[in-house]
Amino acid sequence: MRVVGEETPALGFARGVWMEGLVDTDVPREVADHVVAVLSEALANTTRHAQADRAQVVLTAGGHEVTLTVTDNGVGIPSGGRRSGLRNMAERAEPLGGHLDVSRPDGGGATLRWRVPLPVT
Ligand SMILES: Nc1ncnc2c1ncn2[C@@H]1O[C@H](COP(=O)(O)OP(=O)(O)OP(=O)(O)O)[C@@H](O)[C@H]1O
Ligand SMILES: [Mg+2]
Repeated sequence: MRVVGEETPALGFARGVWMEGLVDTDVPREVADHVVAVLSEALANTTRHAQADRAQVVLTAGGHEVTLTVTDNGVGIPSGGRRSGLRNMAERAEPLGGHLDVSRPDGGGATLRWRVPLPVT
């Protein structure tokens, strides 16, 4: 919530934020730190590149994985080209057995879905 709040003035509109599952208790500190960094970069990209007027953040913990999804209704991410922050997001997921998916939602814009498995308790 802090990261979302910090980024809101730069963009000029609020993001919808949804959280589901035992985010506070089931996500280990190390993974949570990655989630915060990935969210920060995703929102910075929305501000700088997307030309969006809506964005949504969904964080779920459950089914043995944590998923962070950031969607905007902007111009979309061009295929190919330079990858810096996006590469960093993928590199944060992969050593943990996770993955970053970049896609285009129906109606245009960009969807980032960052997933990593959670330890089985
Ligand atoms: N939400 C988005 N909407 C539209 N285009 C995007 C979005 N996110 C990224 N992009 C495009 O993808 C490119 C790569 O993004 P990436 O985060 O990897 O690099 P960057 O933001 O340009 O640089 P850095 O992350 O190092 O500040 C961007 O330059 C931009 O063209
Ligand atoms: Mg970036």
